[in-house]
Amino acid sequence: MQIKCVKLVYFSPTGNVRRTLRKIAAGTGWETVEYDLTSFDARWQKYMFSAEDLVLIGMPVYYGRIPAISEEFFRGIRAAENTPAVFVVSYGNRDYEGALLELKQKCEQKGFAGIAAAAFIGEHSCCPRVAAGRPDALDEEKALFFGREIRKKVADVADISMLKNLQVKGKYPYRKSKERPVCPVTADHCDSCGLCSRECPVSAINPADPKETDPFRCLICFRCIRNCPNGAKYIENDKFNNLIAELEKNCTVRKEPEIFI
Ligand SMILES: Cc1cc2nc3c(=O)[nH]c(=O)nc-3n(C[C@H](O)[C@H](O)[C@H](O)COP(=O)(O)O)c2cc1C
Repeated sequence: MQIKCVKLVYFSPTGNVRRTLRKIAAGTGWETVEYDLTSFDARWQKYMFSAEDLVLIGMPVYYGRIPAISEEFFRGIRAAENTPAVFVVSYGNRDYEGALLELKQKCEQKGFAGIAAAAFIGEHSCCPRVAAGRPDALDEEKALFFGREIRKKVADVADISMLKNLQVKGKYPYRKSKERPVCPVTADHCDSCGLCSRECPVSAINPADPKETDPFRCLICFRCIRNCPNGAKYIENDKFNNLIAELEKNCTVRKEPEIFI
């Protein structure tokens, strides 16, 4: 198979998916182009991929699924039949349940042919004490190794139609999508700089008054909480905060990346 370029396509509100994909791409040694579909506007653009691209598609795991914006994520993506692709999820050391399988299925519906897939671990966006500092040096080494393995597999195959159907691990039927009754609230010391509103992946924060968030649009991705220069965004909901406390208690055993190739 001839590959001219590796193309990274991802949704990554707090950066773990992006970091992981970049390392995998570095491992392949091919030239790389990035399409960051985290912003609302980017998901209105059109993206065309050909059979000479290798497309690395990455998403975080939310409640054991891929994020609820996945329809929007795929809206502008056009792939030639059998465009070679690698599917990657990043999760916060709890579980990725059906997310990798779901990502694979959605990508295949778009015309991509999976040559490999992986679930990597990233610091939990809702709680920096879970999987703190990940992806770390060991994860990065594994991602580089994965990239090299992908390159070998591509070199070994004359034509993508000769590849066997890629098998990945995943729970099916998928877990029902969560209601999203909570969203971050804003402390009085917010100075209305508007960064949160400009950077919100789903345009859930009012640009005219960044203290106001639409709970029906909000994914609770934690980007605004992480990025606020004044530390003025936080979650006030007891039920949600109890779940986070449970995560801290139950997700202490280190999980390792899983690779399917
Ligand atoms: C709303 C929400 C739900 C999440 N659900 C899960 C989950 O089910 N399992 C898990 O291990 N991590 C979960 N995480 C953690 C993220 O999957 C993890 O932090 C991921 O690396 C974030 O990727 P990003 O930095 O590219 O945004 C969740 C995070 C958020 C914000």
